[in-house]
Amino acid sequence: MKILAIETSCDETSVAVVENGTTLLSLVVNSQVELHNAFGGVVPEIAARSHIEVILPVVQQALTESQLTLEQIDAIAVTQGPGLLGSLLIGTLTARTLAWTLHKPLYPSHHILGHIYANWITEFAPETNSKLLQAPGLTLPSSQPQFPILALIVSGGHTQLMYATSHTDWKVIGRTHDDAVGEAFDKVAKVLGLPYPGGISVEKAARAGDPSRYKLPTPKVDQFGFSFSGLKTAVLRAVQAECGVEYDFPSFKLAERLSATQIADFAASFEHTAISYLVAKTKLAFEEFHPETVIIGGGVAASSPLRHALVEALPLNIQYAPRMLCTDNAAMIGAHAYFQAQVERPTAPEVLDPRPSWPL
Ligand code: KG4
Ligand code: ZN
Repeated sequence: MKILAIETSCDETSVAVVENGTTLLSLVVNSQVELHNAFGGVVPEIAARSHIEVILPVVQQALTESQLTLEQIDAIAVTQGPGLLGSLLIGTLTARTLAWTLHKPLYPSHHILGHIYANWITEFAPETNSKLLQAPGLTLPSSQPQFPILALIVSGGHTQLMYATSHTDWKVIGRTHDDAVGEAFDKVAKVLGLPYPGGISVEKAARAGDPSRYKLPTPKVDQFGFSFSGLKTAVLRAVQAECGVEYDFPSFKLAERLSATQIADFAASFEHTAISYLVAKTKLAFEEFHPETVIIGGGVAASSPLRHALVEALPLNIQYAPRMLCTDNAAMIGAHAYFQAQVERPTAPEVLDPRPSWPL
């Protein structure tokens, strides 16, 4: 089954063609990072407008790179939510129009489940000429995750642990009570004057830093829950103290008062605290649920220190999706939709509305 999948939940316009949930025939990701850079974060109106401008060329490019025509596609999949309403509207309207006019089945996908199913992609089609898939050193996991599975979802909007014994019984076993970890990375990057998007900037700055220089508190939340707002504020307070300014000092001016070494040490101290916390919670859940496989998904799953720390902490051979399949992309939506299509009926194109907030 060849699925053309569309993902526009935030600031990436992405289209992919995925076969049988596991083989990537093409993947195109048009990033809007440059557009939002000046604002230090995603501006919803700019995101929606950019999706409108590029969605059709991106669909065309993904088809061309897969060497298929629209008629050869078996189904259409799209992220229905959660995400930014204006952004989701462009993807869902495009998917509905394609499904309606071509008489193809339509599968709406939950973005978070999509992040999980990025881990099922284990092959590139040999005939693909997709530019993204020809990046040197790009490797996929050698096998698919085996149930029961423990999944750590760490993105800009979500931080949660999920567990499933089959494709149809994903359960949230713990989630953040306030901010998501990706959000904390982005806010800390802003305070330290590091460029947007914050996660990768913090990771790069932290490489030269001393993670033990600034003592930051580990959040206290029961069992498998998380909290990141206190840690984020603790970094802000520590930076203010280091700069010798009051709490009302403008936070965008703090970084000017820090040396490169202080910035690196703050980045490393924050990253170390956040990652140790994620790993400790995952280990706790691992000991309780004894899963066969542990997977991670979402933009923060691209973090090398997180990947290394999990491998060290768990007695498992963990295989990771390549970084470009951890951040937002349509391949994960095509993979999820395939497994959904095995158990669910398609949705009528007339009734598919975006779901900006869609709790699991
Ligand atoms: O999944 P994603 O692409 O979008 C959402 O669904 O939110 O995740 C984006 C988040 C951002 O907060 C970004 O800063 C974070 O993932 N991120 C990272 C890294 N790369 C991206 N966080 C830590 N380390 C990274 N290397
Ligand atoms: Zn995401």
